[in-house]
Amino acid sequence: MEDRRSFIRKSAAAALAFSAPILPGYGCSTKIYSKHPLKTTALKKALVAWYSQTGNTERHGRLIAKTLEVHGIEVTAAELKHVDIESVNDHQLIIIGSPVFYYDTPDYVKRWTAALPSINGMPVASYVTFGGPEGNQYNAACAIIEGLVEKGGVPLALDAFMNMGTFPPVWSGDEVKAHTWATRHLPDASTYRRVREYTKEIIRRVARGQRAKFIKTMNAREFSTLFNPVWWTKKFVDQHHIIRDKCTECGNCVDKCPVDAIDLTNHTIDRGACELCFGCINNCPAQAIFIKYNGQRLVGYLDFMKEHHLKITLPEELNG
Ligand SMILES: Cc1cc2nc3c(=O)[nH]c(=O)nc-3n(C[C@H](O)[C@H](O)[C@H](O)COP(=O)(O)O)c2cc1C
Repeated sequence: MEDRRSFIRKSAAAALAFSAPILPGYGCSTKIYSKHPLKTTALKKALVAWYSQTGNTERHGRLIAKTLEVHGIEVTAAELKHVDIESVNDHQLIIIGSPVFYYDTPDYVKRWTAALPSINGMPVASYVTFGGPEGNQYNAACAIIEGLVEKGGVPLALDAFMNMGTFPPVWSGDEVKAHTWATRHLPDASTYRRVREYTKEIIRRVARGQRAKFIKTMNAREFSTLFNPVWWTKKFVDQHHIIRDKCTECGNCVDKCPVDAIDLTNHTIDRGACELCFGCINNCPAQAIFIKYNGQRLVGYLDFMKEHHLKITLPEELNG
């Protein structure tokens, strides 16, 4: 039988292996940089665009846009799906925001950047909002930059802003997960200060022509992104449908679904196409989306916020 000392030694080795970054040179560490010269250091017009399911990433995007405007920069601010991608080169800076989903940038955002025309020499920056404690947010922000660099963008900066997680299993059921509850006051004034500072730093970097190099290094936990975590998570979903009698046909779920999986003419959800972003249940004001996950009915974001009297603090620029 294994003695106590050797057991402890083996456990420590396993823990180290689990948490350590995968060593550079083994194909899991990626350098992200551009060889293109910056197309300009004169910033007149910026594009700030985001993907956002429950408003956090959008709020930061709008604050970034306001901060740029205060500095005399004209801004196109929009959801990714409303951006005319043929006009991206009319700008001298592109900033893209996204939530972290499943330890990564959502596929929707990756598809969007992949569809861009060439943006050779364009200064680019990214930001993510996230709700988990795992520390994977940096890689997700890197993944956005990676997509923009593939199109010729020149990376300047990235940042990540924490708030309450919006993955319904973290609050549905008997108790709210401790981390979710502990972060329910975010974003707050200090988050917004950081967003403004981040924006000013980007402006400075454009003016100085200060490019950046990022290194995306996967740790063992993030290896799950290579094994289709959406597919695995779907295995826990027993039911996912629309309760026809409750549906008010407001269209929120259709609007938020990134893969057009919802058809309100016959109240169906294409579960094969669904990417399990929970945008439908999180934005339904009528409790008409029924999802049973791991044996329990999920509660959507709007209902969770209402039930716990939670309100998001807005930055003064977005008040009124
Ligand atoms: C489907 C789903 C998966 C998520 N996965 C992660 C994750 O892997 N890591 C993390 O830190 N937060 C995760 N979150 C939390 C969101 O990243 C976070 O709450 C984000 O701010 C939501 O942005 P939005 O309000 O703009 O949609 C997840 C949320 C959802 C809905």
